Parts: sequence; C-alpha cells; structure tokens
Amino acid sequence: MVLLDGKKTSGDIKSEIAIVVSEMKKNNKKVPHLAAILVGTDGASMTYVGAKVKACKLVGFDSTLVDLPADTSEEILMAEIEKLNTNTDVDGFIVQLPLPKHIDEQKVLKAINPDKDVDGFHPTNVGRMSLDLPCFLPATPFGVLELLERYNIETSGKDVVVMGRSHIVGRPMSILMSQKRKAGDATVTLVHSRTKNLASYTKKADIIIVAIGISEFLKGDMVKEGVVIVDVGITRVPDATKKKGFRLAGDVEFASVAPKASFITPVPGGVGPMTIAMLLKNTLLASTRGQEK
Ligand code: GUN
Repeated sequence: MVLLDGKKTSGDIKSEIAIVVSEMKKNNKKVPHLAAILVGTDGASMTYVGAKVKACKLVGFDSTLVDLPADTSEEILMAEIEKLNTNTDVDGFIVQLPLPKHIDEQKVLKAINPDKDVDGFHPTNVGRMSLDLPCFLPATPFGVLELLERYNIETSGKDVVVMGRSHIVGRPMSILMSQKRKAGDATVTLVHSRTKNLASYTKKADIIIVAIGISEFLKGDMVKEGVVIVDVGITRVPDATKKKGFRLAGDVEFASVAPKASFITPVPGGVGPMTIAMLLKNTLLASTRGQEK
C-alpha cells in the first residue's frame, strides 16, 4: 500500500509556483493577488480560509481577506463581490462556502466575474468544464486529478466510482474523469444517498473517490483488493482524549480499507492540501491571463 501524500505533492506544486512568482518579481511584474470572502465564524471555514491566506504568503502572492459577520445581508455581500470584480489589483477571489442560510448561494456564485472565479463555481466555468473548454477547474477535483497524475495512476479504461454528487466535488469529479484527459478516460459511476446496494458498485471499482461527508463510511468489506482510494471527506469527530476536543476523520475507515488498497490518501494530509495548491495554480493562471489581455 502506497500513501498518496497530498502534503508532499502540494509542497512540490507550491515550490513550482514560488519559482514562477520570484521570476515575476525579478522582472518587476505584478505578483498574483488572491482575495477571499468569509461570512461568519464557522470553525472549519475559518481554518480553511486561514490556510489559503497562509499559502499565498508562502508562494509570494498578495492576499486579501474580507471578513464579514454572520448576519451580513445578501446585498452587502453582493456589494463586496462587485468591489472585487472591479478591483484590477485582484486577479482572483473566492467566497468560502457554506454561506449562512439567509444567503442564496447560487445567486452569490453567479455574481462573481467568471474571469476571476478561481474556485470554478460560476455557471460559465462549470459549463466550460463540461464542454472541455479552457476554464478554472474546481480546486478539489483538480487536486485529485493532479495527485493521480503525479503518482502515475492509470485511469484509462478503469472503473471509477465517485461517491457523492455535490456541486463542489462529486459532480465535477465524475465529469472530469470521464473526459479524454490525463487522469481521465475512465468508466465513471456516480453513486449517492439514493443508490441501492451501494457496496455492489464499490466492490467492483478500480478507483473510488469518496466525497459524501459521513465519517468512516467506506469500510474494508466494501472494496476489492488493489483498489485506489481517494478520500475527500474531512469531518470533526468528538474525541475527549484530544486537546481540541475532536479528531479529523475522512469518509473512509482507514484501518480496514488501507490493507486492501494499492494507493490511499491519508486524512489529514491527502486531498486537503492539494485543494489549496490548485487554488494557487488557478490564481496564477488568472493573473497571467490578465497580463496577456
Ligand atoms: N468549502 C468547501 N470547499 C470549498 C472550496 O473549495 N471553495 C470554497 N469557496 N468553499 C469551500
């Protein structure tokens, strides 16, 4: 069993980006600038946004955090988005999800300028992705593709099961892996909460991408020997023995699945760090596109 080390791989990608940024600086070019809007004080979201800002500093990007209270109105949020849309210094920005219940998520995502939508969540980018046109790929599926590629995992003709149909992970993952591309050309089955006899699909799969948000759901008796496992889940499970009062668990029961797997991502240190690296990659792309215009 080989661990798909997202921490190391994301470090490699960040180093590659840092080299490009230092060249930009040498040539007196503007460095990429990523902004993030955070609404509210959800612990996990604060951690993720903090990690994104920290990663920007590490590679030499400029970053801006727009930190808004939980009771921010949709109108105020839309005004903040418009400011970033028109701020020529900002190359790309994200609105951290989930948003508070009183805000219409799709309306907000639609308000982002698609050329600055480095999360790839705008309908224009989702449509372009589906049609295999140049676009910003959503960072988590992009990170999974990159991890599979860098570990030379064959996907062509393989049976891939994607578990979960979220707009952010499962749905784009299923589209991307069925396309003619590196880490693509797979026969993809998307399973979800209404799927009957789920294990009958997972037991046949060569590669399983798990993104359902239920901790330790996929167990050893649901997979075949030699399977490749990519665990996108990360949930806080209460644990009184930990200082913080919780531990982080994936959607895969690592102890029972890992012995049967040929490759498997750990949680933490698997897909999570890759998401951040790919967001930086998209921001770099947004900034160079801007300079070409
Ligand atoms: N919430 C969970 N994952 C993501 C992500 O990739 N981007 C944003 N904006 N919010 C998220």
